[in-house]
Amino acid sequence: MAASISCLCFISLFSLFLSVASSSSTSPPKPTSISIQISPFSKHPSSDPFQSLNFLASLSISRAHHLKHPKSNSSLTKVPLYPRGYGGYSIFLNFGTPPQKISFVMDTGSSLVWLPCTSRYLCSKCSFPNIVPAKIPTFIPKLSSSSKIVGCKNPKCGWVLGPDVKCQDCDPSSKNCSQPCPAYIIQYGSGTTAGLLISESLDFPEKTVPDFLVGCSFLSFRQPSGIAGFGRGPQSLPSQMGLSKFSYCLISHKFDDTQESSNLVLYSGSDSGNSKATDLSYTPFQKNPEVSNPAFHEYYYVLLRKVIVGGTRVKIPYKFLVPGSEGNGGTIVDSGSTFTFMEKPVFEAVSQEFAKQMVNYTRATDIENRTGLQPCFDISREKSVNFPELVFQFKGGAKMALPVANYFSLVTDSGIICLTIVTDEVAGPSFTSGPAIILGNYQQQNFHIEYDLENERFGFRRQSCK
Ligand SMILES: *[C@@H]1O[C@H](CO)[C@@H](O)[C@H](O)[C@H]1NC(C)=O
Ligand SMILES: *[C@@H]1O[C@H](CO)[C@@H](O)[C@H](O)[C@H]1NC(C)=O
Ligand SMILES: *[C@@H]1O[C@H](CO)[C@@H](O)[C@H](O)[C@H]1NC(C)=O
Ligand SMILES: *[C@@H]1O[C@H](CO)[C@@H](O)[C@H](O)[C@H]1NC(C)=O
Repeated sequence: MAASISCLCFISLFSLFLSVASSSSTSPPKPTSISIQISPFSKHPSSDPFQSLNFLASLSISRAHHLKHPKSNSSLTKVPLYPRGYGGYSIFLNFGTPPQKISFVMDTGSSLVWLPCTSRYLCSKCSFPNIVPAKIPTFIPKLSSSSKIVGCKNPKCGWVLGPDVKCQDCDPSSKNCSQPCPAYIIQYGSGTTAGLLISESLDFPEKTVPDFLVGCSFLSFRQPSGIAGFGRGPQSLPSQMGLSKFSYCLISHKFDDTQESSNLVLYSGSDSGNSKATDLSYTPFQKNPEVSNPAFHEYYYVLLRKVIVGGTRVKIPYKFLVPGSEGNGGTIVDSGSTFTFMEKPVFEAVSQEFAKQMVNYTRATDIENRTGLQPCFDISREKSVNFPELVFQFKGGAKMALPVANYFSLVTDSGIICLTIVTDEVAGPSFTSGPAIILGNYQQQNFHIEYDLENERFGFRRQSCK
C-alpha cells in the first residue's frame, strides 16, 4: 500500500544510536522455512454493522487510490475514520539484541518494514480499540546492542530515499561519511509514518538476520502498528532475506478479535527438491511495463483474464486487464487491502451481472447507500439463496473459484448481504492510473496463497485455514 517517500531532513535522532552502519553482507541462503503466526487484525464490534462495512469499503477505496497514485501527497477521497481496526492481518517480528517483539501489518503492497520506535513515539488517530495491548508497543533502540543508524552513503539509504539522495555534509570523494540517511516519510492509503532508517538484527527462533534495514518511525498518523512490507522493493522483508517464496493462508475475518491465527511461511533457498505443493494452481507474475513510476514495480501483478459470474463471462475491456505502456490497468494481489477494488467500468459490469442473476431477491438500496457496497439484498425471508459463483481466471487457465463468504458479506442478524467489492464514485482521467483491479485480503480468505519469487509465479488453492 505504500507509496510516496520524501525526506524529513530537519529531524534528527542521532543521539539514540551508537554508530553508523556500513553496508552489510548477507549470509548464503540455506534451504529452510520459517513459520510465523498470522492473525486478522482485531476489529471493533460495531454498534452499527453497516457503518463498519462502510468503514471497510471506504478504507479499501482509499487504499486503492493510493496504490494507484503512489506519488500523491494525500488521499484523493475523504475517508470517514472509525476506530475499528484495520481490516488487515498482522504478524509479530522480533528485532534487536536482546529481541523486542513488535506487531506489524503484513502488507504485500508496500516494501519498507518499519516499526513504532523510541519511547517518544507519537501516533495521531491511532487508537484502534481491541488491539492488545491498547497502547502501541514501541521498539527502543537504546535497549538493543545491535541498533545502528544507517549512513547516508550506505546503498540501503537509496533503497528507500531513492538514488539521488543528498548527503550534504559528505565529501563526495569520501566513502566514509558519518552523516545519517535522511529521514523518510511514507504515505499509505489512509495514514503516514516518518522516521530514520536503522540497521537491526531480525530474530527468528531458527535464525537471525543481521543488519536488516528497518524504519524506526517516531511519528505516525492512523497506523495501528508497524508495517512489514512484503512487496518487490529491495527493502522489503522477502528481498532482504532473499526469500525464494512465501505463503500464507488467511483465516476468515469472522475471527477478528479472537486469538485464532494461521501461518505465514517464509522460504529461503531453492526448493527445487520440494514438489509437494503441486496441487496449487499457478499463474505467472507479470512485469509491469511502466517505468516512470517506480512504485508500481513494488506490486505483485498477475494477469487476470476472465471474471465469471454464475457461469457467465463478464465483458471487461482489455485495457483494464492488461497494464498499458503508462502502467494503467492490470491486476495486483495485495494483502493490505481489505475488499477487492475494481475500476468503475469493471466493477459495474461485475456488479450488474450479480444484480441481473439475483433479480428475484429484494434489493436493499438503503443499505447500499449506507455501506457504499452494491448490490445488497435482503434475504431475511428467503428459505434458500442461489448465489452465482464468482470465478477469477488467470493467465495459464488457473481458476480461483471463491467461496461465497469471500464476496458476499452477511451482516449479522439483519438478513442483509452485500457484494464485498468496491469501486470509486469519482470519474475522470486522474483516477484511471495504476492497477485497475486490486485483489484484497477479503477475497483471499481460506485460500493457501503462495508468492513463488524464485519461479515468478503466484499460486493458490482453496483451503480451510483454520
Ligand atoms: C506534496 O506536498 C508538498 C508540501 O505540501 C508540496 O510541495 C508538493 O508539491 C506536493 N506534491 C504533490 C505531488 O502534490
Ligand atoms: C573515516 O572517518 C573517521 C572519523 O571521521 C576518520 O577517523 C577516518 O580516518 C576516516 N577514514 C577514511 C578512510 O577516510
Ligand atoms: C425470477 O423469477 C421469475 C418468475 O418466477 C422467473 O421466470 C425468472 O427466471 C427468475 N429469474 C432469475 C434470474 O432467476
Ligand atoms: C441513495 O442515495 C442516492 C444518492 O445519494 C439517492 O438518490 C437515493 O434516493 C438513495 N436511495 C435510498 C434508498 O436511500
